[in-house]
Amino acid sequence: MTARDFPPEFLFGAATSAHQVEGRNDNCDWWAWEQRGGSKDPSGDACDHYRQYPEDIALLRDLGLNSYRFSVEWARIEPREGQFDPLALSHYRDMVERCRELGVEPIVTLHHFTLPSWLSQRGGVLAPDSAQLFARYCRKVAETLKGRATWVLTINEPMILVLMGYVQGAWPPGKRPAAEAVRAARRLAAWHREAFAAIRQADPDMRLGIAKHWIDFRPLDAGDRLHRLGSRLQHHLFNRWYLDQVKSHCDFIGINYYARQYTTGLLRQVPLAAQGAPHTEMGWSIVPEGLRLALVEAASYGLPLIVTENGIACQDDLQRLRYITSHLAAVRQAMAAGADVRGYQYWSLLDNFEWAEGYRPEFGLIAVDRQTQSRTVRESARRYGEIAKTGLLPEAAD
Ligand code: FCB
Repeated sequence: MTARDFPPEFLFGAATSAHQVEGRNDNCDWWAWEQRGGSKDPSGDACDHYRQYPEDIALLRDLGLNSYRFSVEWARIEPREGQFDPLALSHYRDMVERCRELGVEPIVTLHHFTLPSWLSQRGGVLAPDSAQLFARYCRKVAETLKGRATWVLTINEPMILVLMGYVQGAWPPGKRPAAEAVRAARRLAAWHREAFAAIRQADPDMRLGIAKHWIDFRPLDAGDRLHRLGSRLQHHLFNRWYLDQVKSHCDFIGINYYARQYTTGLLRQVPLAAQGAPHTEMGWSIVPEGLRLALVEAASYGLPLIVTENGIACQDDLQRLRYITSHLAAVRQAMAAGADVRGYQYWSLLDNFEWAEGYRPEFGLIAVDRQTQSRTVRESARRYGEIAKTGLLPEAAD
């Protein structure tokens, strides 16, 4: 008998987020941002996943995947401050139950970039009581999903939210002075800690973590002192600082890994694409080794890890398959080196709304025709499903 590359309980799955797939999420800050031209396309009906989730989860299960990472939408659950919508809550309870019925482990994210309009209108993350408001919403969701959901992520990519929203300003709330960016980062750490305590009370059996975006920073010129200093500084600020703030309030850590970036100054990097190196349609470099390094380093926190996102936007589906297998090989190598990795969630299950980039980038295992909303399973999805079913990587993966 061939030994498996991954244990039978390994969580092979795919990820989405509410605003990117559900459609008509019109009571949040991103919707308003889109109406003001902040995205190449407005999200509109997205993939109509709010209605089509039963079929989509069944598709995922039929591929052979055993887990689904998705997010619940605060703007739907608490459409006005302090008023919780029982229909929205039961919608997400149904989603979790649907997963369970099909033998799919749900991995639930509570915040994936969007804020309810009422909160963004009174300061968003920087509103003085935002951490308490977030914790109250999280408690409500935890009470609703009690006993049904095990793996729960409080916040998706807090540092990307700060970087894209406050520093670069391509996302809401738009560019802000550096001091506000720093306050937002600190505040998002408080969000996690407050939410952790509230959810623990509501359901002590939930395993709580955050989805942390990890960039593999390397100096462009290893002989240049400033390039080297830059990679150490950016690694600390972007990868480590937030985790250090929340590590004592985590049962596991989610790692979202996409790319390596080369540093050319204290706070500067260059996109690899510019140099003709392998890259995705987003211009992100393709370096599977960076995932191994990320997991091995994150393992030093002494917690279980899940790769909560990893994926590629491309036209060539074979390239997607190679991306998946080479990154899974990196996961296996990290496990062989001692990292306690429990799962891998490909980004994304469906082609979807890629924030300011609109609908052009196609990350999906499943293509979506947005006129008809019909789904087409890609070959990479079938082959990824085979890996999930057998626990075996194809030979050439490393
Ligand atoms: C991550 C986000 C996710 C998606 C992918 C491509 O940073 O968490 O929503 O946009 O990038």
